[in-house]
Amino acid sequence: MVICSGFTQALAIVCQVLAEQGATTMAVETYGHQHHRAVIAGNGLKVTPVPVDRHGAIVAHLDGADSALLTPAHQFPVGVPLSAERRTAAVRWAANSGATIIEDDYDGEFRYDSHAVGALQALAPDQVVYAGTASKSLAPGLRLAWLVLPAHLVDRVAAAKRLADFQTGVLDQLTLAEFIQSGQYDRHIRKSRLAYRHRRDRLVDAIQRRVPGVAVTGIAAGLHAVLELRPDQEENRVVGLASSRGLALEGLSAYRAEPDTHPPALVVGYGTPPAHAYTTALARLCAVLDDST
Ligand SMILES: Cc1ncc(COP(=O)(O)O)c(C=O)c1O
Repeated sequence: MVICSGFTQALAIVCQVLAEQGATTMAVETYGHQHHRAVIAGNGLKVTPVPVDRHGAIVAHLDGADSALLTPAHQFPVGVPLSAERRTAAVRWAANSGATIIEDDYDGEFRYDSHAVGALQALAPDQVVYAGTASKSLAPGLRLAWLVLPAHLVDRVAAAKRLADFQTGVLDQLTLAEFIQSGQYDRHIRKSRLAYRHRRDRLVDAIQRRVPGVAVTGIAAGLHAVLELRPDQEENRVVGLASSRGLALEGLSAYRAEPDTHPPALVVGYGTPPAHAYTTALARLCAVLDDST
């Protein structure tokens, strides 16, 4: 395992190594962080689009690329898991073409309704780089992430990491190791999972009761929900109205790299408000949605 300073550095280093080995393109889901696309391009790979539908990334679009970045357990931000058929197809594509897939498992600790979704890496350990991060489970400011790598990439990635910054802060790593070994990390995850699930259920309940017609989707895992707007609600208008009332919301289009394939929606991070402000934030969100037609 190679420890990095957040997934951002992990992604940069893997792209750099793949580019050194001759890769030229990375297929990336058309909904995702613009920041990740910039990191990939900044490390020498051309980004090619993989559209997303309700079964996750449409993996037929991987053809032609020599690497891919996917969020198979919980597509970010649309929120759907990659279907079983597409998981198999993605791994087959990688094995047949010699491509490398980066599996970004950014919120795997927080799964609520369905059974655990296995790692893609388990299906193809020689083709898939698994990436985990403490940004959702502990804090984004910690900058701790981990890579489980195909054997043939370990030495090169470790060498690139050493060149980048020698190593990620050792005190933080030792503190996390102690937290895990003592059983406290596990307790923290179980407690947070309950708390976030409760927040999610309150969000779903409030929207269903107060703003009928707005659908809440993508909620089987993670810390965000997608609120699909009614046809009479404009994404930008809702985001603007929310901002004028002190509520920071994001539209789904902020994460889009290609023309629209999804209806207008909001990406709502229900883990963000402090506990004492959650009731007010929910009420404000419902009022904004109510007033934005
Ligand atoms: C899709 C996705 N991947 C990865 C990460 C983690 O990035 P980092 O470890 O650089 O904070 C996040 C945010 O927490 C995310 O939303």
